[in-house]
Amino acid sequence: MKRVGFLTSGGDCQSLNATMRGVAKTLYQAYSDIEIYGILEGYKGLIYGNYRKLKPRDFSGILTEGGTIIGTSRQPFKQMRTPDENGLDKVKAMLSNYKEWKLDCLVILGGNGTHKTANLLREEGCNVVTLPKTIDNDIWGTDITFGFQSAVDIATNAIDCIHTTAASHGRVFIVEVMGHKVGWLTLHAGIAGGADIILLPEIPYDIKSVVKALDKRTAEGKRFSILAVAEGAISKEDAALSKKELKAKRKANPYPSISYQVGQEIQERTGQEVRITVPGHTQRGGAPCAYDRVISSRLGSAAARLIIEGKYGYMVGFKDGEIVPVPLEDVAGKLKMVDPASSIIREAKGLGICFGD
Ligand code: F6P
Repeated sequence: MKRVGFLTSGGDCQSLNATMRGVAKTLYQAYSDIEIYGILEGYKGLIYGNYRKLKPRDFSGILTEGGTIIGTSRQPFKQMRTPDENGLDKVKAMLSNYKEWKLDCLVILGGNGTHKTANLLREEGCNVVTLPKTIDNDIWGTDITFGFQSAVDIATNAIDCIHTTAASHGRVFIVEVMGHKVGWLTLHAGIAGGADIILLPEIPYDIKSVVKALDKRTAEGKRFSILAVAEGAISKEDAALSKKELKAKRKANPYPSISYQVGQEIQERTGQEVRITVPGHTQRGGAPCAYDRVISSRLGSAAARLIIEGKYGYMVGFKDGEIVPVPLEDVAGKLKMVDPASSIIREAKGLGICFGD
């Protein structure tokens, strides 16, 4: 009897179910006597012993379903070694449930924080295989994460819709795209949606450069402009502050998010009418796009293959069109960021897109 635990952790995305289906289908083909434990609400379920046994029928009809059939939650890695409010040692509790359920391995789907905890479990002796999930596309060791392309499509659609109304009214529009630490989603949606200005966490902006780009468009007779701004976009001035200074400044900040600050500054400096649109969590919702369904199915099947071969301690990544195993200790704790000197930024600048630098 083979026993495998599935766990989805952190912010969800559109193709978690498609990925689990890929793992399950391949496992069911390989083993006639396999039990899949659906560990509920991420690491919370592993800590507090909540699971549901999944059957082949649970994986039917979920290729196109967003969300996750086993739920998710955020359990910060930083607090994993801190006992809970009742003094429970979370790491010990996870190891004890893993043993009690007699699991042969854990299949963990998640982003950066999730990978740090997955690596911790590996170091503590659990057999672990992970899959790179996040709309942010910021996991080290893989060219692409599942969920990213679906989110790009949604954010692009938001920019497309804004385009027509911005043109009618002759306004400046800011579309705020998800991504606190990295700007992949904003960069791709911004290029795909034809944004005039893109502001990313990796390229601190100078509001004067932004205003200059807007004034140039006005001088060219353009009646409207569109900015794609990442949640984590940061001014040059703020980027120069220490962590402590920035925290204090942000506490006193009256704006709900960076777009509102940029919007007000633009309005004051150019006199143009500015509107803000925040698609927010719609970027993580709905059905996965076709590209994600393929990537998820491939990654899922490859993860099952690792289990069948008894190769544990890896994330399945996607490199140059091929699925590759990447050692978990190499992945944990690293972030894949947009390189300001990369060719995609050069090409975007070649298209006339301003990054505010
Ligand atoms: O990591 C995925 C992500 O959607 C980020 O892009 C976003 O900043 C964050 O999660 C939002 O988190 P929450 O769903 O906890 O508000």
